[in-house]
Amino acid sequence: MKTYSRPRVAIVGATGAVGSTMLSILEERNFPATDVRLIASSRSAGKITGTRWGDVEVEDLETADPAGVDIALFSAGGARSKVYAPRFVEAGATVIDNSSAFRMDDDVPLVVANVNDDAVAENQGIIANPNCTTMTIMMAAGPLHRAAGMRTMIATSYQSVSGSGKTGMDQLQREIEHFMGDLDGLVSGGWKDPGGDLYARPIGYNVLPLAGSITDVGYTDEEWKLVNETRKILRRDSIAVEPTCVRVPVMVGHGIAASMWFDRAVDLDEAVAVLGGAPGVQLWDDTNVPTPLDSAGIDDVLIGRLRETVGHLGGVSLFAIGDNLRKGAALNAVELAELLLI
Ligand code: A2P
Repeated sequence: MKTYSRPRVAIVGATGAVGSTMLSILEERNFPATDVRLIASSRSAGKITGTRWGDVEVEDLETADPAGVDIALFSAGGARSKVYAPRFVEAGATVIDNSSAFRMDDDVPLVVANVNDDAVAENQGIIANPNCTTMTIMMAAGPLHRAAGMRTMIATSYQSVSGSGKTGMDQLQREIEHFMGDLDGLVSGGWKDPGGDLYARPIGYNVLPLAGSITDVGYTDEEWKLVNETRKILRRDSIAVEPTCVRVPVMVGHGIAASMWFDRAVDLDEAVAVLGGAPGVQLWDDTNVPTPLDSAGIDDVLIGRLRETVGHLGGVSLFAIGDNLRKGAALNAVELAELLLI
């Protein structure tokens, strides 16, 4: 694996919800970059952004020359990653990719910082950032798996609209304004459809029991990511994951309610000891219930409602919530970049 002392960094998708968070996190953490290049579509090319590395002009991905880039953080969608990430690798860069384009490739490590850091060393040019929902629950599942060996996880997500990028946040804002003028319709029925085709149903004042698109056997691509990425990150193909991914009218913060069972019984005291000492995690007790609003803008994943299972005994149930733009995406990408530093 390539390592760096003062890397030249590029952010691809720099104008997006995740890309702009990547830039602020690099700045906040005093990342020792020599310089930072900002790359997006032709729509944004030429815009000037003030950064810790001076004023930077946004470049068009189609014409940007990857030569000289050491670390490229990609968050411009899977289609762009598929085409351009290999070109950056060919030009000598290590790519940290936030899309799903390479996550399940055998030669691409899928890494949650503080959970499976060792896997970074296996990279051959591309390291994949896991899906934002998987990432958040791995901060709880990883330490518990290390302690007791995970066998089964039933997980239901409560995913914010920023998981769909800026478009998702704009859509929620528009729909809330639309429904504010007709609150009676929300209570008694007869509400008018706000329009827009981003989601299958309105998201303002609503809950959608479908995040992503339906693929195999009635499960969505988001749900399959939770299944497959969990197994790859925890290096155990036999883990049984039962996922349901739900979109909620929240700007930032993906929550997951999960029940987990292991090779042996895990009681509350052990779960508290494991999660209380886990890095990047805050364990909250029942006087302090973690919500999306608490998670917005912070790095730690918040875990609460920790309890022993009461139906099928021997496991634990919990609620984990993390800022999907930070730990769920941009922060983890920067943490992975930090693992490449010497
Ligand atoms: P742009 O702002 O120029 O469209 P989000 O997920 O928040 O919507 O952000 C998506 C990011 O990916 C933005 O930075 C966006 O740039 C970038 N992007 C989208 N389509 C392309 C493209 N065809 N080429 C390069 N960058 C793109």
